[in-house]
Amino acid sequence: MSKTTPPSLHFFTILFFFTLPFHGNAQNITAQEQTILLQLKSYLSNPPYISHWIPSSDHCMWPEITCTNGRVTKLEIINVNITKTIPTFICDLKNLSYIDLHLNKIPESFPAVLYNCSNLEYLDLSQNLLVGRIPDDITRLSSRLQVLNLSINSFTGDIPASIGSFPQLKSLQLYSNLFNGSIPPEIGNLSNLEELNLNFNPFLPQAIPSREIPESVGNLTALEFLDLSENGLSGSIPNSLFLLKNLTVVYLYKNRLSGSIPRTVEALNLEVIDLSNNTLMGTIPDDYEKLTKLTGLALFFNQLSGEVPIGIGRLPSLIGYWVIQQ
Ligand SMILES: *[C@@H]1O[C@H](CO)[C@@H](O)[C@H](O)[C@H]1NC(C)=O
Ligand SMILES: *[C@@H]1O[C@H](CO)[C@@H](O)[C@H](O)[C@H]1NC(C)=O
Ligand SMILES: *[C@@H]1O[C@H](CO)[C@@H](O)[C@H](O)[C@H]1NC(C)=O
Ligand SMILES: *[C@@H]1O[C@H](CO)[C@@H](O)[C@H](O)[C@H]1NC(C)=O
Ligand SMILES: *[C@@H]1O[C@H](CO)[C@@H](O)[C@H](O)[C@H]1NC(C)=O
Ligand SMILES: *[C@@H]1O[C@H](CO)[C@@H](O)[C@H](O)[C@H]1NC(C)=O
Ligand SMILES: *[C@@H]1O[C@H](CO)[C@@H](O)[C@H](O)[C@H]1NC(C)=O
Ligand SMILES: *[C@@H]1O[C@H](CO)[C@@H](O)[C@H](O)[C@H]1NC(C)=O
Ligand SMILES: *[C@@H]1O[C@H](CO)[C@@H](O)[C@H](O)[C@H]1NC(C)=O
Ligand SMILES: *[C@@H]1O[C@H](CO)[C@@H](O)[C@H](O)[C@H]1NC(C)=O
Repeated sequence: MSKTTPPSLHFFTILFFFTLPFHGNAQNITAQEQTILLQLKSYLSNPPYISHWIPSSDHCMWPEITCTNGRVTKLEIINVNITKTIPTFICDLKNLSYIDLHLNKIPESFPAVLYNCSNLEYLDLSQNLLVGRIPDDITRLSSRLQVLNLSINSFTGDIPASIGSFPQLKSLQLYSNLFNGSIPPEIGNLSNLEELNLNFNPFLPQAIPSREIPESVGNLTALEFLDLSENGLSGSIPNSLFLLKNLTVVYLYKNRLSGSIPRTVEALNLEVIDLSNNTLMGTIPDDYEKLTKLTGLALFFNQLSGEVPIGIGRLPSLIGYWVIQQ
């Protein structure tokens, strides 16, 4: 058979044989993933903090990398002053579900390249130099997203309504940014949300209706931790908030909240309530006497009146409460 084969075909066969290992590599995802990581190292200009990223070592053993079943699932490069934008090829790591790049100097608008990471569940880009608006099409991030931490950056504008469309989201951390638009009612669609922290943003009073707590927070049935302190919020506290059974911590201090404190409290797991420094009026709800897990209650700097319900003084866990009536 080979006797009748023209020489050119021999040549092709040999060439094919020698290129086979490379074709083989194309099928070997382990090797491919290492190549992507080495590409990342090179993109970051071969910095000393990842000098141990070398081809002869198993990338699954690198401290910044976690593999599951041989696939890269976690990438954690923290506190090294990365000054480059996130490269598109990061999502070529198809099983990447966890990205933590907090405490760096990543200087860009929201990194849309991450829309291609279809298995992303955990994204922590806090403490970077991210700017601009959170894009409406953030919905293109993986619908598996459970944690989104963009705190301590310089995002501005509204929190987009589309933030409400992450069915798995458990924690939304947007504190210490420059959001000056509104908190959208769609946030109430996050039915698995346990932690919501928008603390310290200048939701500006001139941007109506920016400044109110949307009534829909009452729909966050999984909510445990809520921090909306120091946000320039006005309007009243939605009655529905204190009906959330799993709620344990509520920080609403340093806003311009007015009206009375919601009377009906079904959130019997509450441990901390801080409503201080607002313009709340009326009396302290009798229902607070039912909060046997309460360790801290701060109501000072408001315009409350009337007696402190006597049972509050008898709450077994209460360490400190501060009520200054002005
Ligand atoms: C895939 O590549 C890795 C790393 O280069 C190597 O250790 C492994 O043997 C390769 N697997 C196959 C099936 O070729
Ligand atoms: C990052 O930059 C800051 C300020 O420029 C510096 O203080 C810090 O030491 C740097 N950190 C690292 C890990 O290089
Ligand atoms: C990686 O992800 C793909 C598709 O998203 C999935 O089919 C595969 O099982 C995952 N591999 C591992 C090792 O988890
Ligand atoms: C997603 O990946 C494809 C193919 O690699 C690329 O063409 C596209 O630009 C990427 N999308 C984003 C948003 O980076
Ligand atoms: C970002 O938020 C997540 C979820 O709440 C938290 O586990 C993580 O520690 C936060 N990151 C930083 C740097 O605080
Ligand atoms: C999301 O929230 C808005 C406003 O609260 C509501 O009108 C809408 O029906 C919700 N969408 C879904 C899918 O629940
Ligand atoms: C929010 O801040 C941005 C950037 O500083 C500014 O351009 C915009 O006008 C502000 N919006 C409001 C409603 O104040
Ligand atoms: C709360 O959820 C219910 C149904 O789940 C929906 O009809 C209602 O519009 C939501 N309320 C708000 C304010 O989003
Ligand atoms: C409330 O917390 C309990 C106990 O942790 C949990 O089983 C339940 O699913 C939570 N409720 C919601 C609506 O998430
Ligand atoms: C109360 O909050 C305002 C801002 O809303 C702030 O300027 C003031 O210092 C706060 N007072 C106290 C005692 O925290």
